[in-house]
Amino acid sequence: MKTVERIKQPIHAEMEYFESKFRHAMHTNVPLLNRIMDYIVHRKGKQMRPMFVFLTAKMVTNGGFHERTYRGASIVELIHTASLVHDDVVDDSNMRRGFFSINALWKNKIAVLVGDFLLSKGVLLSVDNGDFDLLKIISRAVREMSEGELIQIEKARRLDITEDVYFDIIRKKTATLIAACTAIGAASVSANQETVDDMWRFGETIGLAFQIKDDLFDYTDDQIGKPTGIDIKEQKMTLPLIYALNTCSKEEKKWVINSIKNYNKNKKRVKEVIQFVKDKNGLAYAEQKMLGFQNQAIQMLDKYPQNKYKEALVTMINYVVERKI
Ligand code: FPP
Ligand code: MG
Repeated sequence: MKTVERIKQPIHAEMEYFESKFRHAMHTNVPLLNRIMDYIVHRKGKQMRPMFVFLTAKMVTNGGFHERTYRGASIVELIHTASLVHDDVVDDSNMRRGFFSINALWKNKIAVLVGDFLLSKGVLLSVDNGDFDLLKIISRAVREMSEGELIQIEKARRLDITEDVYFDIIRKKTATLIAACTAIGAASVSANQETVDDMWRFGETIGLAFQIKDDLFDYTDDQIGKPTGIDIKEQKMTLPLIYALNTCSKEEKKWVINSIKNYNKNKKRVKEVIQFVKDKNGLAYAEQKMLGFQNQAIQMLDKYPQNKYKEALVTMINYVVERKI
């Protein structure tokens, strides 16, 4: 059985029910918007975020859950989808998950509005049901994601980003939403505040590992649905490159910065930068950091009851760092 299927097994029924609810949560009477919603549902991803919501809710209650847990899962998937639609506009990206992006098919102005629509649907789903605690958690994530994207844009211009800034960016743009998933999972079953906060930190730690893995993909040649070297082309400074720049000579640094500034669209030059990062052990360094977060996340579960949901969460943490796509 595939790893994702194995992780889903203890929450199989919940995920099936969630899927039907999720399409409903996107409903609109505007025909164009409905067509785009159909397209979005059709190219859906692995739905890891709803899985985090259900597994956390069930782990902390030893198998219990609440109607609110479904809404929590829908809220995070709506906001996640909104953020990806907007991100592809921000990055001027034509592909997402092997399909054309919304902006590629319908242009930027429609994509921006589609993202706004999805965001409002997520907000309304919580407001209409009085889930203000869940709304508070997801709103923090939306604020941090926007801040993370903006810091990334600002820093990309200067190309002088430090490791601390890198971690600040990935914590905000990626880890915070996974933190919201696990915190919402716990909050949806009325866990105490300490557990909710603890689950936020747990998800955040997984999220850091997740983004480092994503950044490592940019340096690997395997087919992953997106080409390599994109980050360099977009002048995104990620951990492998930051490490390489911190450990090389002044001349080498000058060459790399010049390559990224002035030759970032030159395929041969980008390939040379990738090789340089590999030679400086940038990939090994980033991998080691990622494994640190993986172990930390697993250890954070020690104090929770041993059950099949916890086992699935551990499998999921391992999947985050071992996945090939
Ligand atoms: C992907 O990063 C981007 C994100 C995970 C965050 C995007 C967030 C926003 C656009 C702001 C929040 C907006 C709303 C409406 C909730 P990436 O470009 O490094 O990764 P990619 O390869 O998946 O594009
Ligand atoms: Mg992007």
